[in-house]
Order: sequence, then structure tokens, then C-alpha cells
Amino acid sequence: MSPEFEQIVREVRANPATGYDLRLFAMRQLDRLDGYDWSGIYRLEGDTLILDAYVGAHTDHDRIPVGRGVCGTAVATGQTQVVEDVRTLDNYLACSLETRAEIVVLVRRDGETLGQIDVDSHQLGRFGPDDEAGLSALAEVLAERW
Ligand code: SME
Repeated sequence: MSPEFEQIVREVRANPATGYDLRLFAMRQLDRLDGYDWSGIYRLEGDTLILDAYVGAHTDHDRIPVGRGVCGTAVATGQTQVVEDVRTLDNYLACSLETRAEIVVLVRRDGETLGQIDVDSHQLGRFGPDDEAGLSALAEVLAERW
């Protein structure tokens, strides 16, 4: 994990908050990272993702059915999604016309999917293994105090 992510995970762990408050704190920490232009959480309720804590521009996509867009695909496949250029996707829900790259990491506890961390960047190909590792570690902390 990169030093920047180690620091963020440490700060989130050290924060005694739980639930929404901890998730919002975590998204605020992610917002410090270069190229993290929209950072948010979706909670999974039944077969719908519901927008939860986020930092960034308002989005109309506050409810996303499983299977739709990058977010819904992550749940449907059970896998992290890393998109270098969202303009190449057919199944994409645009939050901002400036978005180029996106990463979605699932939040799981005891095999159950609780939700996900979704980050958008204006920078093409912004997300790689460091982001996946860092966001996965963060997801574990959030899952413990969901
Ligand atoms: N782009 C996502 C929708 C959520 S916004 O990025 C905030 C998708 O295709 O599922």
C-alpha cells in the first residue's frame, strides 16, 4: 500500500465514529488524493445501490440497480472494477462529463456485500494496483463499523 493510503487507513481506524459518520470522514480523506475528483459510498439494499456519504459534485445517480453501470457491475460480478477510460463503456452512468477513469471496490463482511467505494477521476487511467490495494484496506475498516 502507498504511504498516502497507509496514512488514510490509519486516520480512519483511529476515528471512533461508526456508520455514516465514519464513511463520510473516510471520503473526505480520499478527497485529498491527487485525481480523486469524486469519492463516494453506495450501500446495497436488496438489489439496489443507494448513494450514501460522498464528496464531490451532486449526482443524479442516487439509486443504481445491480447490473447497471460500473457500480452495478461490481456487485453483479462480485469484483473490483477499474476503468481507464469510461468513454469506451456501453454500460456506463455518467455523473460528470469530465470523468475519465473510475474505480469501484466492494465493501464486504463475512461474505456479504454491504456496499462499495466508488471513485471518479478526470485523469485518464488514473487508477491502478495502489488504489485497489488502498481502497480495499479502507473497505475492510468501513465494513467493521458499517
Ligand atoms: N459512473 C457510475 C455511476 C456513479 S457516479 O460515477 C457517481 C456507474 O457507471 O455506475
